[in-house]
Amino acid sequence: MIQMSYLSQASAPMSADQLLALLMQCRTNNTARGLTGMLLYGNGTFLQVIEGDEAVVDRLLATIEADPRHVGMRRISRTTIERRQYADWSMGFERVTDDGLRQVDGLRDFSARDFNVETLAERHDVVDSLMSQYRITHWDPLVREIDAKDKVIEHLRRNLVQARSRAELTSLVLESVTRAARQGSLGEEHLRLCESMLGTLGPTGSGEPA
Ligand SMILES: Cc1cc2nc3c(=O)[nH]c(=O)nc-3n(C[C@H](O)[C@H](O)[C@H](O)COP(=O)(O)O)c2cc1C
Repeated sequence: MIQMSYLSQASAPMSADQLLALLMQCRTNNTARGLTGMLLYGNGTFLQVIEGDEAVVDRLLATIEADPRHVGMRRISRTTIERRQYADWSMGFERVTDDGLRQVDGLRDFSARDFNVETLAERHDVVDSLMSQYRITHWDPLVREIDAKDKVIEHLRRNLVQARSRAELTSLVLESVTRAARQGSLGEEHLRLCESMLGTLGPTGSGEPA
């Protein structure tokens, strides 16, 4: 496995919506490809670390380099690793601000304006401090928003599966009742089946047949 990092300049300042779209894309793709990492954005500058299988990382980097949302990619490190440093994050994210920088040990005099490709490319010590600081601190609100969206999607998916299985059961009950009615053998058990099905369809229904 390798870990690699690079700096680049956003082609235009990124809005929250654009960052959100980019992060959603990273999360979906990176999860599928077994990639993890961290993306910092501030002062129109990106600093990204990506780790995973060497060939997969290299292929993605070629794609990222051609992305029109940024320019001037400068690779700053490439290391073979045994263990991931960002194992839990398909792509962690933080926006770099003056306030955030003031909390980083040794970077009290470093301002968000210094977060640019030229300065950072010369200061690997600063890059290391930034990455380890952001690795141990909180999530950006944007990431929390994505997490919340993931939960809503999970909830909808569960409801959809339940709705499908209810529809399947309802059609079985209808088939059985229709056949019995045609044969003149409609009985108490069919009524109980219908009542039980009705119980699952109403607003207070449990979602599962009784
Ligand atoms: C700064 C920056 C970082 C990016 N990081 C990733 C990443 O970690 N994973 C990823 O799949 N795409 C990333 N992208 C997006 C890729 O350039 C590309 O648009 C995307 O992989 C294409 O995905 P698709 O094939 O699903 O459309 C990044 C783009 C930029 C500008």
